[in-house]
Amino acid sequence: MPTRVTSFGPGRVNLIGEHTDYNKGLALPFAIEAGVTVRATGLRDRRISAVAADLEQRDEFPLDGVERAEGWRGFVRGATAELADSGVALVGADLEISGTVPRGAGLSSSAALEVALVLALLALAGAGEPDRIELARLCSRIENDWVGAQTGLLDQIASLFGERDRALRIDFRSLNVRPVKLSLAGFVLVTVDSGEEHTHAGSGYNDRRAECAEACTLLGVDSLRDATLADVELLPAPLDARVRHVVTENGRVEEAVAALDSGEMVQLGRLLDASHASLRDDYDISTPAVEETVARCKQAGALGARIMGGGFGGSVLALMPPGSVPPDGAVVVRPGPGAAVSGS
Ligand code: GLA
Repeated sequence: MPTRVTSFGPGRVNLIGEHTDYNKGLALPFAIEAGVTVRATGLRDRRISAVAADLEQRDEFPLDGVERAEGWRGFVRGATAELADSGVALVGADLEISGTVPRGAGLSSSAALEVALVLALLALAGAGEPDRIELARLCSRIENDWVGAQTGLLDQIASLFGERDRALRIDFRSLNVRPVKLSLAGFVLVTVDSGEEHTHAGSGYNDRRAECAEACTLLGVDSLRDATLADVELLPAPLDARVRHVVTENGRVEEAVAALDSGEMVQLGRLLDASHASLRDDYDISTPAVEETVARCKQAGALGARIMGGGFGGSVLALMPPGSVPPDGAVVVRPGPGAAVSGS
């Protein structure tokens, strides 16, 4: 059993397919190079001692009978409790957590943290790694039950399955993950922080989930994957618009995969713009700060730019043509490898 391990969970960018994961739809994310690192050392006694290096804060709690806590501590406690509940014989640990992915910027610092924590605790316990889809589910329970955000599986699957130079076409009905080569022919993808921090637990994210569930009940379908544009006409506002977004966004994911396959960057840009319009007008998750950021990207020559992630703030994703100068504060993003753990 190793006594020291280091794990890394990457953040993610979602190229397209937003608010589709919890509707059993399609998305096309990729893991990025920035993420969260956990350096873990085994302890003889049954307790977890954790330090969030970037925040200069610590937490300590017993392995047995884990109690709840707010903020980053909720993730550490949730990871410990969920692993124990799933039958892993955990050992005490000293955890040092540090990250390169900004918090609250829509780049999934949460999933990066969950994934890195879970991989480190599993490795220290000498437990084999379970199926990565099962691991994604466990990580999402941390977020749902310990942090209070009813998020889907997008971020966790992207972090766990990421591959260099590949985006991942995820079908959230079958949970099939298909790597898709991301060749941008000299174009670059950048993220630009809107400066407005978002938290899923506190924003309208959970409201949108509830609206989708209500639409399913009214339509008599199990998930919005089964809804059609004809169904939109049957629903009252604003549920009609929410469903229209989900149905059209699933279509845009398939079109984006085709655009990547055939190297049609102009078409990819159009799809990003259409996704943004749908998220702003039909899903109603944009904000003035996000709109201003999208406008800055377009002024800098972006072929397409859209709000990314849960919404109500966070980052904008833009496709910049060769030779263009991205707006101030833009960060170039490219697909990096998925989460991993190493010996020390
Ligand atoms: C957040 C959630 C994901 C997904 C996106 C929206 O990132 O964590 O599960 O719902 O928002 O696509």
